[in-house]
Amino acid sequence: MNIINLVLTLTIIGSTAGTNESEHRFPDDFILGAATSAYQIEGAWNVSNRGESIWDRMIHYKPQKIADRSNGDIADNSYYQYKEDIELIQQIGANAYRISLSWPRILPNGFNNSVNREGIQYYNNVIDEMLEKNITPFVTIYHWDLPQKLQDLGGWENPEISNWFVDYARVVFSEFGDRVKHWITINEPNIFCIFGYHSTDAPGLDKSGRGDYTCGHNALLTHAKTYKMYQDEFKNQQGKLGFVLSFSWVVPQNPDDPEEVAGAKLSWQFWYSWFLHPIFSNEGDYPREMKERIANYSSIQGFSRSRLPQFTENEITLVKNSADYLGFNFYTARYETKLTDYDINNVSFQHDIGMIPIDKAFTKDRCTPWAMSKAMRHINKEFIIPEFYITENGYWDVGGLNDVNRAEYYLLHLTEVTKLLNEGLNIRGYFAWSLLDNFEWSYGYTQKFGIISVNFMDPKRARTPKLSSKLITQIYKSKIVPLSFSTTINITTI
Ligand code: BGC
Repeated sequence: MNIINLVLTLTIIGSTAGTNESEHRFPDDFILGAATSAYQIEGAWNVSNRGESIWDRMIHYKPQKIADRSNGDIADNSYYQYKEDIELIQQIGANAYRISLSWPRILPNGFNNSVNREGIQYYNNVIDEMLEKNITPFVTIYHWDLPQKLQDLGGWENPEISNWFVDYARVVFSEFGDRVKHWITINEPNIFCIFGYHSTDAPGLDKSGRGDYTCGHNALLTHAKTYKMYQDEFKNQQGKLGFVLSFSWVVPQNPDDPEEVAGAKLSWQFWYSWFLHPIFSNEGDYPREMKERIANYSSIQGFSRSRLPQFTENEITLVKNSADYLGFNFYTARYETKLTDYDINNVSFQHDIGMIPIDKAFTKDRCTPWAMSKAMRHINKEFIIPEFYITENGYWDVGGLNDVNRAEYYLLHLTEVTKLLNEGLNIRGYFAWSLLDNFEWSYGYTQKFGIISVNFMDPKRARTPKLSSKLITQIYKSKIVPLSFSTTINITTI
């Protein structure tokens, strides 16, 4: 057997010709970081009094819901290896790390009558470790791992959730708010409310067109009540609270079909303005078109009221302006086409829109930096956004250290961010998703998003930097996005 080591120099061309590097520079105080979330990396699912979450429950009882029948019981083992993670954050030159707190690790039953000191200690250790290394913590209070005990009471469909959440957030602000100044209340309700009630994600319920709207409604009120509570009780901590959504730009598959073009615009409203309009518009409340459409369909379908819940005047006021920043998560463009099997009696979110996504997910088409800019410019024009943080941006593949496509993705997207900054958009920071390969929800470990690879066969979960992390390191350390990126890679063939 012959083993050959090939050394290859690779050049990735990033931005458009004719521009110069000084135009692709980040301001000195710009946040450049990476992100993870508790359930996706921590593991230790039943250690130190942690309670059960809706993901534990769904996966343990229905492993078939996950592409490779895997789970997050161990994941990246970060509960034990968090120091290594923070070391890596430092090595890539990041000045911030976005993590999330596990509600059932802090309040095993969901309620604040029993606070788990071991959970608090764990997050104190993580936060202190970051601060020691001059890394700014960005902390998401909720990234999808609801305590199962609260799901048993209806979870996000029960309006009481806003009180449960406020109680939880109060514990969190009291324990960590002296050191954490950048908070995110809820990560992507437009994703977990849709997919959690469309059977793919936990809690795995099949209530599209009803459960999703109720979940979204309660998530907005929960966020707003938490924002108010922070202003009333923790203003002296001088932190900022943001709200994070997943964004895209909706592209009609047939741009010559006016109905499809209109459908793409409507789809954008349903997926994104649904949450943006109540918080970040002058009028507040849901977008008019969305309210009218759902009310109209609901009535035709025989419901005595709209399937989209209504806000009271007081609630509209409470929700309006309830964020110091918008967390903008972006992955790829969304191509959609008209639903052909439309049936008015079919109650679902997708039928309310009348459009369905086309899966372009397996092609390089997923690298669409222009779609990120289109979405951001549109939001910036249509809404009042105090500050933007790009709280997630990333690309999945099936693994491997020579992740050329991911490196190209980051080069192009980071170039685009500098262009948006030059146009005057108030973007304060950027986080790559993700620092590590991790448990990718219903895709299990089949999709890898990390700039650092994790060996899931190894009990020590060895972490190895990928090619893309070299590019990220260069950019994060210099605060300049180069026009192209060259590196040497070793390829071993047998
Ligand atoms: C979520 C992450 C997820 C990522 C990639 C985002 O919607 O916040 O938890 O891993 O997308 O799918």
